[in-house]
Parts: sequence; C-alpha cells; structure tokens
Amino acid sequence: MAKKAIGIDIGGTGIKAALVNVKDGSLIGERVRVATPEGGKPADIALVVKQLVNQLHPGRLAIPVGICFPAVVKNGHTMSAANISKEWIGLDAETLFERTLGHHVHMINDADAAGVAEVKFGAARKRKGLVFMCTLGTGIGTALFINGELVPNAELGHLQIEGIDYETKAAFSAKERENLSFAEWSVRLQKYFSVVERLFSPDLIVIGGGVSKQHGEFLPLLKLNAEIVPAAKRNNAGILGAAALAYKNRED
Ligand code: BGC
Repeated sequence: MAKKAIGIDIGGTGIKAALVNVKDGSLIGERVRVATPEGGKPADIALVVKQLVNQLHPGRLAIPVGICFPAVVKNGHTMSAANISKEWIGLDAETLFERTLGHHVHMINDADAAGVAEVKFGAARKRKGLVFMCTLGTGIGTALFINGELVPNAELGHLQIEGIDYETKAAFSAKERENLSFAEWSVRLQKYFSVVERLFSPDLIVIGGGVSKQHGEFLPLLKLNAEIVPAAKRNNAGILGAAALAYKNRED
C-alpha cells in the first residue's frame, strides 16, 4: 500500500493541496487550488484547509496532513507575516489547524518544505555541501541545507541590498508588478544571488516557484560560481515536502 499524506501549500494568493505518495514524491490524483480568502486571516484560511482535506480524503480515516506557510514557523507557531495577514504573527497556528480539522497536522515554512522535496526527490537529491533553495513567487522564499540537513527558517529573501528589502525588487511578483522583461528582471536576480554567494558560497542553487518552469528565459542570463538549476518538482515542491514531513512526524 502506498505511503500517503496530504500536503497543503498556503500562499498569499492561492492555497494548493494534493494527496501525495511520500515514498516516491508523486501526486496521487489531481492537485487542487483555491484562492486565499480575502485578507488572509487565520480562521478563514483554517476553514479552507478543512474543506480541502475533506475533499482530498473524504471519510473519517486519519491521514498525515502537512501544511507549509509563508512565514517563520517555530514549534507550530507562525512568527512572521510578510505577504499575509499580520494576525499570524506569534499565533499557535498548528493548534488552530488541529482544532479546526480535529486532527494532528505538521507545519513548516514554505521554502523549507520545497527544499525538503528537492533534497528528497528532486534537483538536490544526494547533493553534498551547501544547497540554497530559493522560491521566486509573491515573495522570495529561501532554505539552506548542509549535506542534506535543513537549517530551518533562513529568511534570506529579506536581505537588504542598497537599503531595500530585496524581496520587493527581485520576487516574481515584482517582475509582474513592474512589467519587467526576463532580461530586466535577471539584472536584479544577478544582484541578489551575487550577494548570497558572497555571504554563503553555496555549492548548488535550486530555483523554485511557478516561474521555474520558464527557467530557460532567465537562468542562462545569470553568471554565478555555484551551479544553478530549476526545481525538479517545480511548483509542487512545497506540497510534496510538507506531506513528506507530516508522514515522517505522524502520530500513529
Ligand atoms: C517570507 C518567507 C517565505 C517567502 C516565500 C517571504 O516573504 O518571509 O517566510 O518563505 O516569503 O513565501
């Protein structure tokens, strides 16, 4: 029987979920996506998550549920909120979801979850040294792995460059908002990854987020010392990583 878990990726604009085979990192059936409720408030998001779990796994049989979220997550508490309601700051989010679902859940930062999926099933599999995972979406999500081990909650999307929180300049949302071409956007990415290289000297950089499927348009424009590759699991990496960790930490 397949080892299964549900992975849920909560974002500022959409919430994506799927049933996952955690042995090989494949989706079982279709991924579902719903818009994030207006304002991104905790109680509203918890209700959407409950509906998604019921839809993906009807009935009363327990299944591990992993949730990844765009904030620092420590001991189930969401500690920041860059692109989501400020009500999440300091909230015991794991308990909120568990009360709403009536079921144990496992929470992690969204970029950490995506990185876990790439290390376990994707572009960083069996890679030694320092791996820097970077998701380019509404924000910039980052995760650090040393010899396959996660260093949790790296928030390097908010590196200050020229006095600016550089997520606001180099996230995919900035490209869209300012109508930048890939060439124009890649100048900003070059600046961002050069600073990351100067500070961390990663051996491998993995680029995730929806735009990673268009990697041919911008990765060849970047001149870096580290190898830089697109995420093999693309935009499903968060779901896969959250599900894999929930399975690992399940309550039998
Ligand atoms: C948040 C991170 C998150 C990233 C991607 C950033 O604004 O601070 O916690 O991983 O966006 O969603």
